[in-house]
Amino acid sequence: MCGIMGYIGRKDGYPIVIDGLKKLEYRGYDSAGVAIMNGTLSLYKKQGKVNQLEQYVHTQKTNGNIALGHTRWATHGIPNDANAHPHRSQSGRIVMVHNGIIENYAALKSFLTTKGYSFQSDTDSEVLVQYIEWYQSTYQLKIGEAVRRALGDIEGSYAIVVLDSMNPESVIVAKQDNPLVLGLNEDEIYIASDANPISTYTQEVIFLQDGECAELFDDGTYHIYDLENENVIPEITTVKCCDENYSLEEYDSYMLKEIFQQPQSVEACISPRVDVLQNEILIPEIDNHKRIFSQAGKIIIVGCGTSWHAGLIGEYLIESLADISVEVEYASEFRYRSPIIRENDIVIAISQSGETADTLAALKLANEKGAFTYALVNTEGSTIARHSDVVSYLNVGVEIGVASTKAFTAQVSLLTMIALKIARIKGTIKYNEYKSIVPQLSDLPGLIAQTLKSNDLMLEVAMSHFEKDHALFLGRGPNFPVALEGALKLKEISYIHAEGYPAAEMKHGPIALIDENMPVFVIATNSSALSKMISNVQEIKSRKGQVIVFKEEGQEFPEEITDHMVSIPKTHELLSPILASIPLQLFAYHAAKLRGCNVDQPRNLAKSVTVE
Ligand code: F6R
Repeated sequence: MCGIMGYIGRKDGYPIVIDGLKKLEYRGYDSAGVAIMNGTLSLYKKQGKVNQLEQYVHTQKTNGNIALGHTRWATHGIPNDANAHPHRSQSGRIVMVHNGIIENYAALKSFLTTKGYSFQSDTDSEVLVQYIEWYQSTYQLKIGEAVRRALGDIEGSYAIVVLDSMNPESVIVAKQDNPLVLGLNEDEIYIASDANPISTYTQEVIFLQDGECAELFDDGTYHIYDLENENVIPEITTVKCCDENYSLEEYDSYMLKEIFQQPQSVEACISPRVDVLQNEILIPEIDNHKRIFSQAGKIIIVGCGTSWHAGLIGEYLIESLADISVEVEYASEFRYRSPIIRENDIVIAISQSGETADTLAALKLANEKGAFTYALVNTEGSTIARHSDVVSYLNVGVEIGVASTKAFTAQVSLLTMIALKIARIKGTIKYNEYKSIVPQLSDLPGLIAQTLKSNDLMLEVAMSHFEKDHALFLGRGPNFPVALEGALKLKEISYIHAEGYPAAEMKHGPIALIDENMPVFVIATNSSALSKMISNVQEIKSRKGQVIVFKEEGQEFPEEITDHMVSIPKTHELLSPILASIPLQLFAYHAAKLRGCNVDQPRNLAKSVTVE
């Protein structure tokens, strides 16, 4: 993971780099550092977040027209000052920031040790900067050439920015399997792990491609070449500026802001795809490939974490509406077995960030096997979007809180529309049923706003349970993935151990855990499973479990067997998972806050997981 920000031009680079690093902290926040060129090369790095680095640096001289910065998510070596980036070569001449993993670092380190190199950190990245210096000094190479040759020997993934104090008018960048974006202006160039921090200054960007290197000069010119030293003519893309998303407004955290944004974010996802007058769903990615979707052998959905949970709901929706067999795979497992993918299969890759390494690798495998690939991503221009045959964007704006909330509800909304659209093309849904569900999609934003009124009740539930060590989440049908998602939200931000189960599976093992200290969250909004859910709750209550039931407004549920009852607005059963997930997000948020946790930046996590 890790976030990289850099500047080369006429201005002072330090404030630009610090501002960018704050926007990239979602990629990692265990330590941060900067290097500034102002005649000499100054380097500051510190364990902790970017604002801790800022405090550490504030008495220092920070002017200089070239600056690089890094915010880290530790892979090799614990989070501490020494392991923070930038890393410096042995002579001190070369400085580098790195995002990725150098897989053959151990062999290179042994080699460099025999050449007299010693190491200040436990990182694989320091090995790379020393190796670049070894090439440079052994063969008296220019820095760009030393970087290119060193990278030829590297196994692994990288996005790097390299600064050579003997060449203070340029920097070298390169990328393989980790993102790096260059922002172009008249006499300056910005470098970042994604386009957002750049878009404040310029909308003209180059997404560097795998195997490409570039030398960037302080007059805004650049030269891009590949590892074979062939010149590359880059594609220049225009991106949108998205600064307003970084304001917290009246909220105490991005997570809470993003939970409360969901009426607008789901609206932004749904409304461009629903023709209200014609009562039709419009998804050009499907409309333009009707034959592929109507003749698909099967659909394979790949994703990780929350995106995988959305995929599980998608499986339920697509199978029940469109009559196509669907498999949902953890992207991380998918390519390490021998998945059967045929040419008439469709592979849907779901990813908020569009950069998750496992999902990208699964997608590349699907491309190799000749499947039609379809990305559902949030981040425009992201790597997964660019590697798919077609892409549908979630349109929810930047999601900053590490725990995914508004992206999840948009993913499920989009999958619902996709299922309905394929069903319509294939004729597997009755026209009347289709015509009755489509308007209900447009009602969702209003129903989400109503559902958010459960906030006070969820605070009350959290006050009853925030000191518990464990929690169970149960659901059936499309609400089983909602249970998984509720458990994931709780554990990742409050550190309470939580598990999601299909409600009927409880009696096959987890029931042994139930006692008076076990809160059990029962998602029972699907009326077709109601009587069975009531029986499951009876079984929990008989064992003194504490039950929080989520039911649909107007549904009868015996109050005497529940400790808290949360009513969710009535909607079509297939749409209810979107609403049911919202009070679970609120519960996780309140429980984490009551436990004093940082909900936006939970420990050990990062938002964009660009390493395997
Ligand atoms: C959980 C969460 C993660 C992500 C997962 C995949 O709240 O955010 O589980 O869902 O890392 O990330 P994307 O969707 O960016 O591929």
